[in-house]
Amino acid sequence: MRSSWIFLPLVILRVVGAAPFAEYILAPKHRSIYPHEILAVDGDVQNTDALYHSGSSSTKFTGINSSVTLDFGKNIAGTVQFNIDSVTDSDQWLGFTFTESSMWISPYRCDSASSATYDDPLWFHIPSAGYYAAEKKRQRGGFRYMSIWHNSTGSLAIRDVSVNFTASPEMVDPSDYVGYFNSDSEKLNRVWYAGAYTNQLCSMDPAYGNALGIPGTDWYYNATVSTISTPSVFVSTNSLDGTKNGISSLFLLQQPDGRLPWAGVPFTRPGMFPFSFTYHLYSLLDLYYYHLFSGDDAYLLALWDQYKLALSWALQQIDDSDMANVTSTNDWLRSGMGGHNVEANAILYHILDVSISLASAVGDTGLTEHWLSTMQKIKSAVNARLWDPTQNLFYDNDMNQTESAVRPQDGNSWAIVSAIVSADRAAAISTSLMNRWVRPYGAPAPEAGATISLFATGFEIQAHYLAGHAERAVELIEFISLIEGYSTNGSLHYAPYDNDARVSHAHGWATGPTSPLTFYGAGIRLSSANGRTWLIQPMLGGLQRAQAGFQTPLGAFSAAWTSVGGSGVIGNFETPRGSSGTLILPAVDFTPALRGSGGRIDPSNTTSGVYTFTNLPGGMYLVGKA
Ligand SMILES: *[C@@H]1O[C@H](CO)[C@@H](O)[C@H](O)[C@H]1NC(C)=O
Ligand SMILES: *[C@@H]1O[C@H](CO)[C@@H](O)[C@H](O)[C@H]1NC(C)=O
Ligand SMILES: *[C@@H]1O[C@H](CO)[C@@H](O)[C@H](O)[C@H]1NC(C)=O
Ligand SMILES: *[C@@H]1O[C@H](CO)[C@@H](O)[C@H](O)[C@H]1NC(C)=O
Ligand SMILES: *[C@@H]1O[C@H](CO)[C@@H](O)[C@H](O)[C@H]1NC(C)=O
Ligand SMILES: *[C@@H]1O[C@H](CO)[C@@H](O)[C@H](O)[C@H]1NC(C)=O
Ligand SMILES: *[C@@H]1O[C@H](CO)[C@@H](O)[C@H](O)[C@H]1NC(C)=O
Ligand SMILES: *[C@@H]1O[C@H](CO)[C@@H](O)[C@H](O)[C@H]1NC(C)=O
Repeated sequence: MRSSWIFLPLVILRVVGAAPFAEYILAPKHRSIYPHEILAVDGDVQNTDALYHSGSSSTKFTGINSSVTLDFGKNIAGTVQFNIDSVTDSDQWLGFTFTESSMWISPYRCDSASSATYDDPLWFHIPSAGYYAAEKKRQRGGFRYMSIWHNSTGSLAIRDVSVNFTASPEMVDPSDYVGYFNSDSEKLNRVWYAGAYTNQLCSMDPAYGNALGIPGTDWYYNATVSTISTPSVFVSTNSLDGTKNGISSLFLLQQPDGRLPWAGVPFTRPGMFPFSFTYHLYSLLDLYYYHLFSGDDAYLLALWDQYKLALSWALQQIDDSDMANVTSTNDWLRSGMGGHNVEANAILYHILDVSISLASAVGDTGLTEHWLSTMQKIKSAVNARLWDPTQNLFYDNDMNQTESAVRPQDGNSWAIVSAIVSADRAAAISTSLMNRWVRPYGAPAPEAGATISLFATGFEIQAHYLAGHAERAVELIEFISLIEGYSTNGSLHYAPYDNDARVSHAHGWATGPTSPLTFYGAGIRLSSANGRTWLIQPMLGGLQRAQAGFQTPLGAFSAAWTSVGGSGVIGNFETPRGSSGTLILPAVDFTPALRGSGGRIDPSNTTSGVYTFTNLPGGMYLVGKA
């Protein structure tokens, strides 16, 4: 049979020195950042342009309460620096204030970095002309607007106000991304890059973290911290230092019984061990991800005994219901965590699943049979005891299954992500979750009040893809906002916080949409560490085209797809030499044809019109119409 081919133009994307789709990258190439524009001026301020246009002139602030508000055009982070050309006397002061949301713009106060309702200005005493720069512990994480407040009589002349971008310190050039994503949806493209950039804003020199509980007056950031949002970091900057550092810091704090802390230092300190069952499991999942993306066998091996001890502690929480009974209420600030909880048990099921792959990676498979049988028991119990057939959703737990009981977003999403449910049940949950959407704001998390949580929404997005409803994932990403959390009526209020000025607009937990667009949308997934085995399965979900790429130490992965009516796609993909994998193409009204370097390849399986090609060696492939 002769085949006719429709070829896509092959775009060569690995141009040395230029990231593909660099126009979407929000991170600066150079660390000195100048304001974008002047938003407001109050009192006697002359020649404001000189604040950020270098030249010989300067900006003059005269008299009490003269102020300027600058807009950087996007959220940034760092230390402020400037030059003073002259002062009329030695009693001159300038206060700098910072905010992410335009709601809190004020020359007199900042938004809130911690528990204070608002933070005070960062004050500089300016007795004479010269160069002034904030100390590193006075860096401000996450602000778009900065105001300068002159509170003294007399005047001063200032120029060259800039911010030294201190986020993502491990990158020489913060805009040097190895991963990329692009589609015909501008919103999706911007969401993908916003997630990538947000994770950069959340990566800092670990010696200069937000200590939380810091005062609003004379605030400082000098706590030792670590942050993690691994999959979205991997697909974009692939800068995994922060992940590894975070995992190491949590495993260092492991208790003799196996428990890992809810959060690292300074939450955990002598005499204080905050614990969360779900976060305990997330720490294990993060080690799995780190190993999957880096192929760092030595690191996994070094932590393997601690990993098994932690897993064994979690399994000891399983009682005669065959589910873990959670006794700590801590979670992602949702309420009602405890008992035989669906989120906790779905995550535990997933951890057992990934533990089986890790065990095989380190060659320690003695417990695999036990883990498999435990998975079966958890699965039967969760499906039998927590399912609500009237709403096609899981109840949060078995303590309250009344009409008004919570059917959580996190647990129902995790039920699909962990594959603890059948395909039919997954599709039904996906429909029920979609029917709860509050347009135009987002997908609610009733387990945390009248709340939209981007953390829980990240799992819901994965869930729609995995339930076979890519179009719902795409639609949800099209209308959500990426901040930490907000109210279901769209107001900037996050139920777990009593001060709205604290809601973070640069939160790693809100970056959940980035990695599913790469893994499921463009359909490039790693099946084993380093991408030695992979699964290519595009799910455009109504997009006309989508393409993505990333790298593991083994080499580059990329895929580019164009929709050809219905769910059919044509396109191309490339995987590293030495790897192998599977291609799954959606059921369509034409016969897909696959061509590799050795010519035409037949599908191994066409069950239900789904074309599966297995044992494909790494290389370049074209998918066309037969
Ligand atoms: C300057 O602003 C501060 C803060 O809003 C206010 O308390 C003070 O009264 C103002 N001073 C003058 C002279 O307007
Ligand atoms: C300006 O603010 C600084 C720092 O809070 C303070 O020490 C100084 O007294 C203030 N100056 C005036 C005139 O209020
Ligand atoms: C910016 O901050 C970094 C890290 O603190 C420092 O090494 C660098 O010298 C600073 N750059 C400028 C222009 O101040
Ligand atoms: C952090 O800075 C505060 C305020 O300057 C200081 O009191 C504290 O000792 C510092 N902590 C560390 C760990 O350096
Ligand atoms: C499960 O844990 C809860 C605390 O979350 C406790 O009150 C309850 O007694 C435990 N149930 C069983 C069956 O052990
Ligand atoms: C069940 O949960 C709902 C929602 O939180 C609450 O209104 C109701 O009072 C609870 N009922 C019982 C019996 O605990
Ligand atoms: C929105 O909900 C919050 C509580 O979540 C409430 O404080 C606020 O008044 C509501 N706003 C409107 C406009 O209804
Ligand atoms: C064919 O592929 C489907 C899904 O891709 C899979 O479930 C099934 O087991 C495969 N059958 C054979 C015989 O390989």
